[in-house]
Amino acid sequence: MRLLHLSANNQGGSILLHKTQAEVVIRVATLEDSAVCGRICFEAFSAINGAHGFPCDFPGVEAATGVLSMMFSSPGCYCVVAEVDGRIVGSNCLDERSVICGLGPITIDPEAQNIGVGRRLMQAVMDRANERGAAGIRLVQAAFHNRSLSLYTSLGFDIREPLSCVQGRTLERSVAGCAVRQARADDADACNALSRRVHGYDRGVDLAQAIEQGNARVVEREGRVTGYTTHLAFSGHSTAETNLDMQALIASVESFAGAGILVPSRNHALLRWCLANGLRVVQPMTLMSAGLYNDPSGAWLPSVLF
Ligand SMILES: CC(C)(COP(=O)(O)OP(=O)(O)OC[C@H]1O[C@@H](n2cnc3c(N)ncnc32)[C@H](O)[C@@H]1OP(=O)(O)O)[C@@H](O)C(=O)NCCC(=O)NCCS
Repeated sequence: MRLLHLSANNQGGSILLHKTQAEVVIRVATLEDSAVCGRICFEAFSAINGAHGFPCDFPGVEAATGVLSMMFSSPGCYCVVAEVDGRIVGSNCLDERSVICGLGPITIDPEAQNIGVGRRLMQAVMDRANERGAAGIRLVQAAFHNRSLSLYTSLGFDIREPLSCVQGRTLERSVAGCAVRQARADDADACNALSRRVHGYDRGVDLAQAIEQGNARVVEREGRVTGYTTHLAFSGHSTAETNLDMQALIASVESFAGAGILVPSRNHALLRWCLANGLRVVQPMTLMSAGLYNDPSGAWLPSVLF
């Protein structure tokens, strides 16, 4: 039996519990769980990123709680928490808005890590995706994190792309021949068709929500839509015909929301253009997938979910 020294996360203070993996209970998350899970999420990322000299993915507990309360209450997400003796020790989410699911954020209380809770929370959402007939699951992992890499690999996830999270403001503010504007509802068909050509599937629900929220943009070249972004952000994805179209999208904003945008590092030309334009690498990350995966044929930036 391994000892679990667990913070009493609702009341504060610290207690010593004696637990085995079998005593972990997984249940569906509710909106009321988001405050506890938001604190755990912030502390888990602060601890692992801080230990490696990287900034936390979230600026504070409130930001982490905000993201989780949105996901816990979204009909497009399946979210679970893990409890030990009725106390929440971690959570995980599955974005079910397309035929490919996005997994995360998964976080475990730093005092309850490495005793099997993460594996149980991963298995719960993988079972869910299988039951619903999802074609595949994708996630983005911090490349410096040995434990998450090992856990995901042993569960069947394969490394697909090394990513560079980059932040800043490009020196070039536009790209000749490309016009970027806010996306409208009547752009959705062209954007979804482009996504199907590049990725083999579309993310129409995700895109429609982004258009409604006012974050989505399209790039037009020679009078037609050649790229779109749901948000130039850690949490947004972008798809374009060519690097030129993607560069126009990237150059059109003053900064990227959240930690930064995720540039596939093997897209050497695009990454080199980002660096030549003054963007700075924040951290290395890795795109992993289980189930269906096809190499995209075009320019693309995944969101932190996939
Ligand atoms: C990553 C995280 C979710 C994993 O959850 P966890 O409860 O700590 O992990 P588990 O104990 O279930 O599983 C860890 C597995 O990795 C293995 N492992 C850990 N370090 C390892 C290493 N250096 N090499 C090989 N295997 C390793 C463990 O042995 C265990 O494998 P097992 O299930 O076969 O015994 C959790 O540690 C966490 O919240 N980390 C901080 C936030 C984070 O990085 N989240 C992930 C974002 S992508």
